[in-house]
Amino acid sequence: MSNLSLKQSNPVTGKRMLSALQGKPVDRPPFWFMRQAGRYLPEYREIRGTVGGFLDLCYNSDFATEVSLQPIRRYGMDAAILFADILLVCDALGQNLSYQEGEGPVLEPIRTVEDIKRLDPARCPEILSPVYDTVSKLSASLPAETTLIGFAGAPWTVAAYMVEGHGSKDFAIPRLWALRDPDGFSQLIDLIVDVTIDYLSQQIIAGAEAVQLFDSWAGLVPAASFDRWCIQPVKAITSALKQRHPEVPIIGFPRGAGPNLIGYMTKTGVDAISLDQSIDPKWAAQYVQPEGALQGNLDPLAVVSGGDAMINQAKEIMDAMAGGPLIFNLGHGFVPQTPPEHVAALSEWLKNWTR
Ligand code: CP3
Repeated sequence: MSNLSLKQSNPVTGKRMLSALQGKPVDRPPFWFMRQAGRYLPEYREIRGTVGGFLDLCYNSDFATEVSLQPIRRYGMDAAILFADILLVCDALGQNLSYQEGEGPVLEPIRTVEDIKRLDPARCPEILSPVYDTVSKLSASLPAETTLIGFAGAPWTVAAYMVEGHGSKDFAIPRLWALRDPDGFSQLIDLIVDVTIDYLSQQIIAGAEAVQLFDSWAGLVPAASFDRWCIQPVKAITSALKQRHPEVPIIGFPRGAGPNLIGYMTKTGVDAISLDQSIDPKWAAQYVQPEGALQGNLDPLAVVSGGDAMINQAKEIMDAMAGGPLIFNLGHGFVPQTPPEHVAALSEWLKNWTR
């Protein structure tokens, strides 16, 4: 179908990102990139250098607003994502959290049911209030066509960091807890479900127009327990949010979930799935897109490479998935060595794309 006939039969109105999430017609797929604010941008590194620690940046709503806006000014993405981190809820619950240069997050690990009982959800509203200020400030300063995305970690992934205490290739400690004492581990998952419902609800009240749940380590969950640790907690969050804010779309990102993506939207109630780069776009178009919108899934290293390798992969994604509701994105976040000029070239290509 040509662009023109699509416009004539179905007027293209409103924000592209929200239209795509609702399965409405768009002139071209909207785009944004995970980790679009971050270390690959010199202006981010400059602010990061003046504030001190990464947490100070997340909790300073003026600086957090500024770094969320930086990529939008440069590249004009269709969506801005709140600048924060999925582990702020751990800090808010009273778990000691720090970010060490080159090492990532370090947490005082939760290993027992007694440890879970020491976490205090009553602290969350006050500690997380700067995040809601960032959302309000962004909402007031973004261009009219840009959608504001709020986010949180999905319970499995947040629990994995809380229990392991730092990043890991296999997160063996939380996985063993889930195997040996599923009911004890469930108490942690349930607590995270509850604080995440409030956290995302407050972001929506402050002005977030869509939210994304990052389940970065969903791929570590065995098929037999995928429902318990990845589907049910996300479903609990989605159901509560849909009750309070029925109009706000929810994007799930169960990274590494593979064939578990089939049925994921229907079972969890999310409106869209963000695909990692291991997923074949043609497979996703056939087996996942009938359930709702897709987002993804350019290899972040294709943007480090740039040139034909980047554009050819972007073309394959569009060819396979732009026939249905699609938000162009990466399969995971930008890496720090991404050349900003490659992001510029990709953004221009995406804005000029035609059916
Ligand atoms: O632009 C954006 O995407 C918005 C902000 C954002 C950050 N983290 C900022 C950040 C978002 C959406 C996240 C999500 C996040 N945080 C996830 C899920 C997505 C994923 O990457 O799988 C996870 C697992 C985390 C936890 C986390 N935060 C880790 C493991 C690390 C260290 C790894 C790294 O990339 O350094 C962080 C730190 C972090 N979060 C940085 C940024 C910009 C880098 C810190 C710095 O500037 O020093």
